[in-house]
Amino acid sequence: MALIHLFQPYRLGDLSLHSRIVMAPMTRSRAEKDWSPSRFAATYYGQRNTAGLVITEATQVGPDATGYPRTPGLWTDAHVAGWATVVAEIKKGGAKAFVQFWHCGRIAHPDNMPSGLEPIGPSAVQPKLPIYTDVSGALVENPVPRVMTEADIARVLDDHRKAAANAKLAGFDGVEIHGANGYLVDQFASTNTNLRNDDWGGTIQKRLRFMRAVIDAIAQIYPLDRIGLRLSPFGTFNEIDDADPIAKFRAQLEVSRDSKIGYVHIIRPRVSGDEDRTASDADTNVIEIARKIFPGTVIGAGGYTPQTAEAELTAGRADLIAFGRPFIASPDFPRRIREGLPVAATFNAQLLYEGAAEGYTDYPPHP
Ligand SMILES: Cc1cc2nc3c(=O)[nH]c(=O)nc-3n(C[C@H](O)[C@H](O)[C@H](O)COP(=O)(O)O)c2cc1C
Repeated sequence: MALIHLFQPYRLGDLSLHSRIVMAPMTRSRAEKDWSPSRFAATYYGQRNTAGLVITEATQVGPDATGYPRTPGLWTDAHVAGWATVVAEIKKGGAKAFVQFWHCGRIAHPDNMPSGLEPIGPSAVQPKLPIYTDVSGALVENPVPRVMTEADIARVLDDHRKAAANAKLAGFDGVEIHGANGYLVDQFASTNTNLRNDDWGGTIQKRLRFMRAVIDAIAQIYPLDRIGLRLSPFGTFNEIDDADPIAKFRAQLEVSRDSKIGYVHIIRPRVSGDEDRTASDADTNVIEIARKIFPGTVIGAGGYTPQTAEAELTAGRADLIAFGRPFIASPDFPRRIREGLPVAATFNAQLLYEGAAEGYTDYPPHP
């Protein structure tokens, strides 16, 4: 199938994307000790700047948003300076740049957080899955999160506003909210991680109050059409287990519609986090549901090939397609598929979440 739609330009709000190809956000665990982006990040993103839109890796909005080792933030001037060099490299290739905002919530360990901080969450529901820390060099128990008070919630929302102001200083065109994969926004949304009976829990409307408030906080800085939301319908990553996943998904889309944000970015259930699951009809269904409920831009993600991406665009179900793993070892992925050049079939899985330049910036473009 000729890749005609993938290389058509697209208007995302007032932004012109030169193609429908999005680089999906990917954590690469190489951030500096002060939570600045890796000193190799500008090179890494610069090598991948031929997508229409680059969404940078999940980036923490404040000190207690942290959870994993060597992941970046956006709450200090040093962070802004680091990200500004990344954004400049992305824009050199003609891509637009969005940053993915992240609060890990209960998926966190004090050893991975600035000194004295502890994991927080909507409720005291301890994850069963272990978490890696550099301090122990092993997987260790995830602690019970401290229940967020009203003051915590207000502060975390304000951290989103401040991080948005910092994103703007760094030159990002927009912000994607990480509402997927069992992190804080998803923890508030889901019945198994939100046991609250105040105004932030209970009905799905109340469980989505936090998501709505995060949108409002960022909208104090960025226009609504520069804000996107990532969702993982039917996802179980990080032990999310909602009692009614389809009702949750529909309500998330309705809130997105009513908030008038620019895009929703839907991860198909065939991928869980960074791993493949079985493909099913649900993969097409979730994109169709998003298209029906949400009037703005729909980005599809999760296990697309150039051909299935083209088919999704041709069918009119999605406007943009995000690719993650193909960009790891084929930094010039858009050119390779446009010119029929081979896309690297594998990458060094050992070096996905560790290392320096190796396994990160040393994948060459096709000659
Ligand atoms: C190394 C790696 C890191 C990832 N980090 C993130 C992340 O920071 N935020 C996020 O929303 N998804 C993350 N994902 C998921 C990807 O964005 C994407 O949804 C997934 O890889 C499926 O797309 P693909 O089949 O094109 O790779 C990550 C995936 C990989 C492989």
